[in-house]
Amino acid sequence: MSETALPSAPPVTTIAELGKHEGQSVLLRGWLYNLRESGKLLFPIFRDGTGTIQGVAHKAGVSAEVFETLKGLTQESSVKVTGKVRADKRAPGGYELDVEQVEVVQRVPEEDPYPITPKDHGVDFLMERRHLWVRSTRQAAILRVRAEIMRAAAEYFDTNGFTRTDPPILTPAACEGTSTLFPVDYFGEEAFLTQSGQLYIESTALALGKVYSFGPTFRAEKSKTRRHLTEFWMIEPEVAFCDLDGLMELAENFIAHIVQSVLAKRKADLLVIGRDIAKLEAIAAPFPRLRYDAAVEMLNQAFKDGHLEQPFEYGNDFGSPDETWLSSQFDRPVMVHRYPAAVKAFYMQPDPENPQFAMCVDVLAPEGYGEIIGGSQRVDSYDLLKNRIEEHKLPMDAFQWYLDLRRYGSVPHAGFGMGIERAVAWICGLDHVRETIPFARTLNRMFP
Ligand code: 4AD
Ligand code: MG
Repeated sequence: MSETALPSAPPVTTIAELGKHEGQSVLLRGWLYNLRESGKLLFPIFRDGTGTIQGVAHKAGVSAEVFETLKGLTQESSVKVTGKVRADKRAPGGYELDVEQVEVVQRVPEEDPYPITPKDHGVDFLMERRHLWVRSTRQAAILRVRAEIMRAAAEYFDTNGFTRTDPPILTPAACEGTSTLFPVDYFGEEAFLTQSGQLYIESTALALGKVYSFGPTFRAEKSKTRRHLTEFWMIEPEVAFCDLDGLMELAENFIAHIVQSVLAKRKADLLVIGRDIAKLEAIAAPFPRLRYDAAVEMLNQAFKDGHLEQPFEYGNDFGSPDETWLSSQFDRPVMVHRYPAAVKAFYMQPDPENPQFAMCVDVLAPEGYGEIIGGSQRVDSYDLLKNRIEEHKLPMDAFQWYLDLRRYGSVPHAGFGMGIERAVAWICGLDHVRETIPFARTLNRMFP
C-alpha cells in the first residue's frame, strides 16, 4: 500500500529569514509595496517590516484567481502571500518569490489610495504623513539602525560594569540652563520636563560607582536647525573617581562599539539608506583630542582661507558652521576639550592649570555632523559649587540636595550625554534629525 504525504502548510517566515528557505514554499505576511504590471507578468514588491522582496506571477504559472487578485492590487493593501523562494543574484536581497497564493487581508480602496506614492514628495508632505511615511524602505531602515544604536549603546554600559538608574522626567529645576525649560503644571506648582538626567545620576554614581541613564529629554529650543529637536533621547554615563581623561577614553570606546555593532548587524540597512560604509569602517579608537584653543586656531585659519563666512570670536561656544567645519577636518570623531568656563554649564570642574577653562569635552562627529556628545568632570568642591549656583542665579533651595553630594563623601566624578538622534543622523548620513526618530518634535512640528 502506498502512502501519500498530506500537503503540509508552508512555514510562516519573514523576508529577512528567506535565505533559510531557498527552494521552499513559504508564507509571508505583509503589505504590497509596489506593483509593476507587464502584460502577462506581474511583479509585486512585498514588504513585511523586515525587508522587501520582489514577487513574480506569470499568468500561465498561477491560478486565474491569484492573477486577478494581484492585478491592479492597490499599494499598501495588506496581504498573506505564499510563494517559492528562488535565489537571484540581481535581486537586492538575493532572492525573489515565485507567487503561488495571495490572500488580501485589507484592500486599500481605489477611490482613497495610499497617499505616499513611489514618486518624489516634499519633506513637509511626508512629515505631515509621518505615521505612514515610516513604512517606506528607507525610513524603516533608519529606524532599524536607530534601534541597533540604542541597543549597542546600552549594551556597552551593561557589559562594562555600569548600572542603569532612571532619573525622573518631571523635575523641579534646570540642569542645562533656564532658557530651554518646558514648564508643566504640577498640581498648581511649576515643574519642568527634564533637560538631562545628569544631576540625578551624579547621585546614583556616588551610590553605585558607575551608572547610566537612558531616556527622553526635553529642550524648549527656539533653534530651527537640522540638529535640534525639542524632545530627544539621551544616554548618559556618570562615573565616580573619573577625570576628564578617563571620560574621553570612555567616550571613544563607547562610540567605536556602537559603530562596529551597526556595521556588524545592520549593514544592509546602511546600504538601503545609501551610507558610505567605508567612512564608518574607519571609526576606531583612539580619537583625536583637540584643545578649544587649538580648535579656534583652525577656525581662524579657515576664515582666512575663505572657508567660513564669519570670523570666530575667541571665548564663544562654537556655532553650527564652526562645528561643521571642524568636524569635516577629521575622518573620525574629534574630542574638543577645555572650553572657556564662561560659556559652559555651572557644574563643570575648572581646569586646575587655568580656571578660565572647564574640564569638559564635546565630541564632534566627522563629515560635518558636529556635536554628538557633551560631557565634563563635575565640580566636586562644596564651596565652589555653591558659588557657581549663586553666580548663575539658580535657586539655592532647589539645589540643596545636589550640594549634599559635595557635603557627604564628595569625589572627582565625570560623565557625558550622547543625543541618540544626532548619532543616528551621523551614522546613517542624514542631513536632518527629523528622520532619525519615529515622530520628531521640533519648534514648528507637534503632529502627528
Ligand atoms: O551638551 P548637552 O546639553 O549636555 C548635557 O545635557 C549634559 N548634562 C550631559 C551630561 O554630561 N550627562 O547635551 C548632550 C547631547 C548633545 O551632545 C547632543 O547630542 C544632544 O544631547 N542634544 C540634542 N539633540 C537633539 N536636539 C537638541 N535640542 C539637543 N540638545 C542636546
Ligand atoms: Mg553640548
